[in-house]
Amino acid sequence: MAAHFAGSIPPFDVELPGEVRFGPGRARELSSIAARYGRPRILAAAPAWAFDGKGPAALVLEALRVAAEAVIPFRLGEGEAVSSEVDAGAALARSEGCSLVVGIGGGAAVDTAKAVAAMAPRGEPVESYLEGVGDGRVLDRPGLPCVAVPTTAGTGAEVTRNAVLSSRDRRYKRSLRSLYVVPRIAVVDPELAVTAPPFVTAASGLDAIVQLLEPYVSRRAQPFTDALAAQALPAAVAALPRAYADGSDLEARSVMALAALYSGICLAHAGLGVVHGLASAVGACTTVPHGVVCARLVAEAVRANAEALAGRKDDAAATARLARLAQAGRWVTGRPAGTPLGDALAGADRLAALVEALRVPRFRDYGVTEGDVAAILALPLGGNMKTNPADLAPGDVERILRSGL
Ligand SMILES: [Fe+2]
Repeated sequence: MAAHFAGSIPPFDVELPGEVRFGPGRARELSSIAARYGRPRILAAAPAWAFDGKGPAALVLEALRVAAEAVIPFRLGEGEAVSSEVDAGAALARSEGCSLVVGIGGGAAVDTAKAVAAMAPRGEPVESYLEGVGDGRVLDRPGLPCVAVPTTAGTGAEVTRNAVLSSRDRRYKRSLRSLYVVPRIAVVDPELAVTAPPFVTAASGLDAIVQLLEPYVSRRAQPFTDALAAQALPAAVAALPRAYADGSDLEARSVMALAALYSGICLAHAGLGVVHGLASAVGACTTVPHGVVCARLVAEAVRANAEALAGRKDDAAATARLARLAQAGRWVTGRPAGTPLGDALAGADRLAALVEALRVPRFRDYGVTEGDVAAILALPLGGNMKTNPADLAPGDVERILRSGL
């Protein structure tokens, strides 16, 4: 491993998230988890379908009702987490006297629950606290406790310290970020994902794969998250087609749940790259789901980074980062080592083939056209570009974006 650090291990920090309960069937423990908070009034934030009495969320709600004085449903709209919904949820939590927030669903539901819990005691719009949007206010004290129960394997939102919120009107997709946003407890039960449809499995699973790859090749890569990526990236690339083909394959679902969990820890510690930078901009301007954006851009992003780094042979740091792209490529392909550039490009080709095999839509399937490119590129790509392995030229970034159209 030391080879990846060119002979020396850099200083690094680990701020472990809250408690994690991982494994099939663990959602049943939500009764005892809720009971730790006395007999709480629980705000349950979840997509509307979760309250129809069927599917995986029904089991979760049932377990919560055993321990709660009341479970107040907060039905979320379709699509990504939005600031106005967070304000509505926080107001509901206050008016109902809630003492616990539980987020059930994909990354959007979990992020909404995290932000609602953080904002509930404050009575101010969440926008004032968003990075690059608000007036620089920071969360300086805990909000309500939050329990995250993901029903898809993708974002790792159950262990991250940011909630990504959008506003279509104001054209932003930015983070509410604080240690007080990390869920107190994450219940990661792979059984909850067995009914996720193939499209959701593909998009969320590819998001997790990108969130393992980008931190591994990041300029802030570090040994702790490297170990997680080394275990989860090759396993996820092998398991995702199985989970896609047979949703009830609990072994594959478990690997993907672990990959998503690890990916959240990796991105929180080591940062991301150009794929997630562009994902924020695309998400602010279009309705393309986050996982689809990441899936459609990753291959070209790996190629652009590898080629830019390969052109700087006299730069030891660039060579070391290319070695990481090559290692990630070998994890993805399972092939023995060739040249560093060759391994990285082979990894990109393998990821592109995986995205095709899983029938991930293109941006144009959501009505995005050539005419939208300029507006997307005009938006700031955020801190993700600071950790991207290569210094990409504007033309490279545009080429990566166009690869998704
Ligand atoms: Fe992501």
